[in-house]
Amino acid sequence: MTDSTHSVEKMSRISIKVPPPGPNAMKIVEEDTKYLVKTTKSLPIVAEKAQGAFVQDVDGNIYLDFSTGISVTNIGHIHPYVRDKVAIQLDKLWHFAGTDFYYREQVDAARAIAENTPGTFQKKVFFSNSGAESNEAAIKLAKAHTKKQEFIAFIGGFHGRTQGALSMTASKAIQKKGFFPTMPGVEHAIFPNPYRNPFGIDGYENPDELENRVIDYIEDYMLHTYVHPDNLAGFIVEPVQGEGGYIVPPKGFHRKLMKLADENNAVVIMDEVQTGFGRTGKFFGSEHFGVEPEIMSLAKSIASGIPMGAVVVKDSFDFPEQSLHSNTFGGNALASVACVATIEVIKKEKLLENATRIGAYLKKRLQELSEKYSAIGDVRGLGLMLAVDFVKDRKTKEPDTKLRDTFELNAFRNGLLSLPTGLSAMRFIPPLNLSEEQAEMGIEAIEKAIKATI
Ligand SMILES: Cc1ncc(COP(=O)(O)O)c(C=O)c1O
Repeated sequence: MTDSTHSVEKMSRISIKVPPPGPNAMKIVEEDTKYLVKTTKSLPIVAEKAQGAFVQDVDGNIYLDFSTGISVTNIGHIHPYVRDKVAIQLDKLWHFAGTDFYYREQVDAARAIAENTPGTFQKKVFFSNSGAESNEAAIKLAKAHTKKQEFIAFIGGFHGRTQGALSMTASKAIQKKGFFPTMPGVEHAIFPNPYRNPFGIDGYENPDELENRVIDYIEDYMLHTYVHPDNLAGFIVEPVQGEGGYIVPPKGFHRKLMKLADENNAVVIMDEVQTGFGRTGKFFGSEHFGVEPEIMSLAKSIASGIPMGAVVVKDSFDFPEQSLHSNTFGGNALASVACVATIEVIKKEKLLENATRIGAYLKKRLQELSEKYSAIGDVRGLGLMLAVDFVKDRKTKEPDTKLRDTFELNAFRNGLLSLPTGLSAMRFIPPLNLSEEQAEMGIEAIEKAIKATI
């Protein structure tokens, strides 16, 4: 801890003093319900403050945070280095319309991102404020570059909820309920989910067969019958599906998809909003698959909780002229400083190495739990992007959504914050600087929650 935070009492373990949700929490939940529009809230956790891997609620309970604000506080809550950099910037410049005027902080953030994304080619960055807004910009960049308009996205994919991004999103039917027409010209292909796929292929045993089946399906069926390659601007895909259930495709899939795109003069928009900035143990999920995307969408963790999104493109993908796209808040000076500081922390503290090491440990411990409890049908993920899938029957792999939802509540009661994903999976996404002791603390809470659930 630096001097600026030394007065904060250190949170170092789970401590449940009042069965949650406590009375103070319930009051705020009630007011929230009165004043805020419905969104996707699933747990009555009301935070007061947070530090590193821990969150304290308004009733004084302390939780271990395996949700990181949906993979945003990847370097832990209020990292002192980022905090101090932002504090200095607070006295210098906050906002100056980075799309219309100039300032150093935004250029520094763009350079830092460009230098750390895959590919040695020259890159350019557009700054946005969220994942959805990044994907909106990516759609326009792809259309402008290819001079084509149609896209293929994937079932189970999540790309945001604005009308353009929503047209690509397909992880839950409710997301589109009542909102048609969204952006026209988007079709969805089957994602190579090794655990459950309509081809009945065991993708863990036969990864090549699964990825080839999907690529052939797109090429032989979609591109020949209803998406003409002359219309196809590109594909949008996550390296590892996030909201779709933490689905890791077979190793060769992204390479084959990029080749197919290339052959059809189309591009691949790689949506790294959730996988970005170290979540998978590499800076970007793409790196696990040996691909160098020409368009990459970012958001969530890139400024450690100060809202920021970005699209990174090969410089030849820059808009051909001014005013085809812009915004007001993109590249905000506070967010830019936080972004550069976040990258510095990840490198200086070797957080990719830690996420790989602790991720492997946590995954092994989750696999041990799956050997003990048959309700866990699958343990999957890369780095510290991990999930367990709850099933009614291991053989049929029938999803047990109810059990998963009960688990979420029981984990919360036992002091662990985690989030559901997909039909029946629970994701565990702690900060990248998680210690082995904290990982063990998490496993203990997970096991208690499983016992309380089954
Ligand atoms: C892969 C991916 N893309 C896009 C988004 C949308 O980001 P936002 O909620 O910031 O609009 C998300 C959000 O979960 C995401 O996981």
